[in-house]
Amino acid sequence: MVKKHKRRSPGMSVQIGKIGMENPVMVASGTYEYNEVTKELIDIKQFGAIVTKTITLRPREGNPLPRTCETYAGLLNAIGLQNKGLNAFLIESIPSLKKLRIPIIVSISGDTAGEFKELAGNLAEREEVAGIELNLSCPNLTNKRLFAQNADATYDVVCQVREMTDKTIIAKLTPNVTNISEIARSAERAGADAISLVNTFFGMAIDIKKREPKLGNVTGGLSGPAIKPIALRMVWDVSKKVKIPIIGMGGIMSGEDAIEFIIAGASAVAVGTGSFINPNLGIEIIRDIKKYLSKNNINGMKQLTGSLAERS
Ligand SMILES: Cc1cc2nc3c(=O)[nH]c(=O)nc-3n(C[C@H](O)[C@H](O)[C@H](O)COP(=O)(O)O)c2cc1C
Repeated sequence: MVKKHKRRSPGMSVQIGKIGMENPVMVASGTYEYNEVTKELIDIKQFGAIVTKTITLRPREGNPLPRTCETYAGLLNAIGLQNKGLNAFLIESIPSLKKLRIPIIVSISGDTAGEFKELAGNLAEREEVAGIELNLSCPNLTNKRLFAQNADATYDVVCQVREMTDKTIIAKLTPNVTNISEIARSAERAGADAISLVNTFFGMAIDIKKREPKLGNVTGGLSGPAIKPIALRMVWDVSKKVKIPIIGMGGIMSGEDAIEFIIAGASAVAVGTGSFINPNLGIEIIRDIKKYLSKNNINGMKQLTGSLAERS
């Protein structure tokens, strides 16, 4: 009798800097908080990694209400980095996140490069923290200063954070620039281990009855399916210019969307707005990528990343 060999499930694992992930699907910063309600809704332990809501040195109250508004195929938000600040985060959030046993990536933001440095210094001492994502791209700060709109400012922040830690540093960039590859290259030169692409696009919506903005902050950041083709193009552009891994995001609503990002050059993907519609989306995407690898005889994620063929 011929012995049947069990078909090995194709390798889903990926490496982002020093972070080994069991699969390439992450939670996009600010779109998931681990608490009593969400832990019933999403089996977060199945994700490859979790990225926290961006934290700042001191607590922030965030922007005036309303902070979100739906648009055609998208979501505008102007949360304004509401968070409890570094100290409360370390005391209250880290212990429960640690129990998940998946890599914890802490997203940080500051008004100055020095604030990023101080935050990174505090996180560097915590063994529970696998990596640090630098939110260089929040569109909702009052001073509207986006580090990632300027190659030198990006370089400066990444360099200062690099001095403080050996942990994996991910630079999260804004799509609100003319040449995103230039900014990505600058982050890479300064020592970033990976690039997250993209944060939200500047946008706004108006209530024509009242003739007033729908968001309390007037403008906000657009996410969701409306931005996917542009985010995908940016991942493809940047992948040709940097050697470090890219984490692709922006409007991922299905396994097929995620696979497009990977073929365009992403080593991993993050799911944000889509999980507001379907809390199970991330898990379904993990399953669909696994199926795709198996069906197409692809042995591992590396083989799929950046495998865009030329048009025949
Ligand atoms: C409500 C909301 C809050 C967000 N907060 C953050 C944040 O704190 N830090 C950050 O880097 N990105 C934040 N983002 C951006 C997402 O992480 C992601 O980059 C963006 O939404 C694109 O992905 P998506 O279309 O899958 O949502 C936020 C997005 C939304 C919708």
